[in-house]
Amino acid sequence: EKAVLAYSGGLDTSVILKWLQTHYDYDVIAVCVDVGQDEDLSSVDKKALETGAIKSYVIDVAEEFLTDYVYPTLKAGAMYEGEYLLGTSFARPLMGKLLVEIAEKEGAVAIAHGCTGKGNDQVRFETAVKALNPHLKIIAPWREWEMKSREDCIDFAEKHGIPIPVTKKDIYSRDQNIWHLSHEGGNLEDPWNEHESEIYKMTIRPEDAPDKATYVVIDFEEGIPVAVDGEKLAPVSLLKKLNQLAGDNGIGVIDIVENRLVGMKSRGIYETPGGTLMYEAHKILEKLTLDRMTQSFKRTLAERYSQLVYDGLWFTPLKEAMDAFVDVTQKPVTGKVRLKLYKGSCTNAGSSSPFSMYSEEFATFGEDEVYNQKDAEGFINLFALPLTIRAIMKEKRNKK
Ligand code: ARG
Ligand code: SIN
Repeated sequence: EKAVLAYSGGLDTSVILKWLQTHYDYDVIAVCVDVGQDEDLSSVDKKALETGAIKSYVIDVAEEFLTDYVYPTLKAGAMYEGEYLLGTSFARPLMGKLLVEIAEKEGAVAIAHGCTGKGNDQVRFETAVKALNPHLKIIAPWREWEMKSREDCIDFAEKHGIPIPVTKKDIYSRDQNIWHLSHEGGNLEDPWNEHESEIYKMTIRPEDAPDKATYVVIDFEEGIPVAVDGEKLAPVSLLKKLNQLAGDNGIGVIDIVENRLVGMKSRGIYETPGGTLMYEAHKILEKLTLDRMTQSFKRTLAERYSQLVYDGLWFTPLKEAMDAFVDVTQKPVTGKVRLKLYKGSCTNAGSSSPFSMYSEEFATFGEDEVYNQKDAEGFINLFALPLTIRAIMKEKRNKK
């Protein structure tokens, strides 16, 4: 029988590949999903086959990742616990979907992954698989085998002739794609420890950024970024450009303690340079183009949306329904925003839209046609009626 493995080429998933053969007697199909992580994937195929896979796939889905996973979340304005831009969270359902597609095409009966039993990622992979094909068996070796540490894995690798990567193991648990890079574990596990800026890979320290501000203009069409400084760009090139600009100015790092779905708190550092610019610019454009009630409702929805993405409930009717709502709200979110990037911060330096609801003519303190100041008196009388009634009743009671 065949099993499909989410494979990265690293030590852990190489050990899992061999273990699936020796422990379960599976023919293993290795699948490496390229979501724009800054790694050399050219030798992953060869590695998988050398480790014993019967077949190996390396699939580039960076564009689909942006258009079908990142953009809907950006349009919703979803940030988990108010800050985390969900970089790992929304990559997992896409990976799960690919694993299922390949399992079906290859006639495999099982899907295996290298997530630990303590994290969110296992949940996200498995909810995706269950939603898309409930008949596939799921194998999570870290929850099953006796191996506990990297040392155990190295022993196993040596025993089975698996080449051990010479690079010294990072002390951090990292996850990268074109949108973000996460760092967890190591000395970050004590929340009192300041993180070392040496860990940055997509950004630099604000202190090291230029002393002069950089300006960038981002164009949106119906809530989606389409151009940078007037140049139309496809999703992947557009994000790469923003990653560069934001990274060079030290923008996009957060350092948070978050609540995992499985119960415990964890501490993470996230680099999301280009994404931070996109979120900021999108928010600024919505302030210009959306009415007050829609904005308010959207903020409530964003909170729920972020939890749903974080919790791995991507392939759900609620998610689909929320996307439908968000898409309606995005019709007027077309226009451009100018951001000022300076030593770790990005701020509003101008916004404009053909659908702008902002009118200088109406906001001005001078005379205008639509707003009659006399109307305000009646409005305030009724708006404050409960307050007036309450005050009168209180007065009456006190007289008695
Ligand atoms: N805590 C973040 C999340 O749950 C990042 C997880 C990173 N995953 C990893 N395998 N290193 O989305
Ligand atoms: C893992 O435990 O596999 C990574 C962290 C997480 O999933 O939250």
